Amino acid sequence: MNSTTLQARCEGVITETADVKVFTLRVQGAHTEFLNNLEPGKHVALHYPDTSGTRHQRLYSITRKQGADLFEIAVKRAGHGGVSDHLHATLREGSIAPIQFVAGEISLASVAGCQRVGMLAGGIGVTLPVALLRGLRERSRRGSSVPNVTLLLCVSTIADIPFLHELLELELTTHWFSLQVFVTREAVKSNGHFKQGRPGDKDLSLLDMPETVVICGSHRFAQGLREHTLTMFPTSKLLIESFTPPTALVTTEPTDAQASVRLHLTTNDQMLEMPAGKSLLDMLESSGIAVRSQCRAGICGNCRIKVSDGEYTLEPDFCLSDQDKSEGYALACCTFPQSGTLKVDLNPQA
Ligand code: FES
Repeated sequence: MNSTTLQARCEGVITETADVKVFTLRVQGAHTEFLNNLEPGKHVALHYPDTSGTRHQRLYSITRKQGADLFEIAVKRAGHGGVSDHLHATLREGSIAPIQFVAGEISLASVAGCQRVGMLAGGIGVTLPVALLRGLRERSRRGSSVPNVTLLLCVSTIADIPFLHELLELELTTHWFSLQVFVTREAVKSNGHFKQGRPGDKDLSLLDMPETVVICGSHRFAQGLREHTLTMFPTSKLLIESFTPPTALVTTEPTDAQASVRLHLTTNDQMLEMPAGKSLLDMLESSGIAVRSQCRAGICGNCRIKVSDGEYTLEPDFCLSDQDKSEGYALACCTFPQSGTLKVDLNPQA
């Protein structure tokens, strides 16, 4: 991770769908190392207010790089008053957005040398496949070999699909890319590209024993398809990206949401008390305690901690082993304290 605080100036805004805008941003005064790391497929962390004015860090895939310091991100308005809603409503040409870092393990180099690549994307998670496909198209135009790529894209409605025209055009004009869209919340006539419902085993078999599978979407989407993919293609390499944090299990007992929990931070013997219902990462941050974090979705492993005692649930993550968990390691972004007093070691020895 390349961490710093820089400014990005918005140089252009394109409305991609009713809820998705593409912003072209120019980094101001960054050094070469930062600019070299700014690659399509990686992500930038913006530090921007939500609609109530509280600043948060949010990650966005770089969908295109247009020069050393000019790049694009796509932002979807979700309607929850979050950072993306505020960016969607307020970022315009000439506005400034602070960038905290650029990071990510997935880029064109992750897939360019493969023979066969599967991509599974949910909703706005399509931005990462779009970034990689653009890079592959350029390679193909220059005469370099590219893998066969199948993208299975899950969306609520067809009108929600950003970059649909570009994806369809890519499929029509190349021999190496195929697209199948699964629509979950509106009736569609199944035809060559569109299917009603979610992908099943038969649909995943379209990936045809891929060397690498790229999965991107919400935490729940990524977790479900990761399990499915591991079962069907146990030898495939999985590359997973998710920027949607896990959420607490919904309980039928309304009082649980208001139950209070205590956190005993063993490193400095500090005791905190707060309502249950949030992730441990959110709880610690809301108390002003800095925790190493990046993805907030159980992928990067930066928020690794140790917990014991008290009642808590662990949402599935993408990096801890069963042995790690049996030894008490957890990820603060995937840990949801429920009741009692949790002992939390923020700096466990590896
Ligand atoms: S912040 Fe990345 S795993 Fe928790």
